[in-house]
Amino acid sequence: MWYNESYYSQKGYIMQGSLRLEGKKVILNSFTREDAETLVRWRSDIDFTRYFLNSNPITMESHLQWFAGYLEDEDRVDFVITAKDTGEQIGTCGMKNMSGGRPEISYAIGEKQYRGKGYAKDAILTMLDYIKNVLKLHAAEAGIHEKNIASQQLAERVGFRPWSAMPGREDFMLYKVDL
Ligand SMILES: CC(C)(COP(=O)(O)OP(=O)(O)OC[C@H]1O[C@@H](n2cnc3c(N)ncnc32)[C@H](O)[C@@H]1OP(=O)(O)O)[C@@H](O)C(=O)NCCC(=O)NCCS
Repeated sequence: MWYNESYYSQKGYIMQGSLRLEGKKVILNSFTREDAETLVRWRSDIDFTRYFLNSNPITMESHLQWFAGYLEDEDRVDFVITAKDTGEQIGTCGMKNMSGGRPEISYAIGEKQYRGKGYAKDAILTMLDYIKNVLKLHAAEAGIHEKNIASQQLAERVGFRPWSAMPGREDFMLYKVDL
């Protein structure tokens, strides 16, 4: 097994839908079945998905099918981001491919009035802290679309640097941070 003991026990919690990470401004709760409506609503907004690797709209049916596979997938965790000051669910973030030793993170704020207020930055810092101090891994990466200036600026703000082309996707750039 590649994972260390702490990650293994955390994954046990994830399977119960209850991994919870706390940052300064956000709380990250791993996806549950109850999040489905909110996630489908956000993912139906082109402004949310425009720069995703897969920006196809989803349906409740396709989401639930994906979610069943997600629960079996030991190598990714996706979170709903909640703003601590209002208690509102505002977006998503996640990490995958921990087994490769350099998790790929993602992030997006679905409730637009919460953009530009530091929530995504805190969500990323919270995940990076978990990757470094719980998973004991020392690098992370993010795939960012060449036109997604907001995401590029944000990634650089938390220490990522452009690193390499993304195989098979010329419109994306891989960014990397050492932890
Ligand atoms: C990209 C995105 C996640 C940023 O989230 P956010 O919560 O608004 O970002 P933050 O408020 O935490 O911003 C942190 C830093 O990012 C940069 N940034 C954020 N939005 C920016 C924008 N529109 N233009 C330029 N820089 C921006 C700034 O450097 C900012 O730091 P500063 O305010 O201290 O200078 C958000 O715009 C979003 O959800 N977009 C749609 C989904 C998406 O593209 N996700 C990323 C896929 S890779």
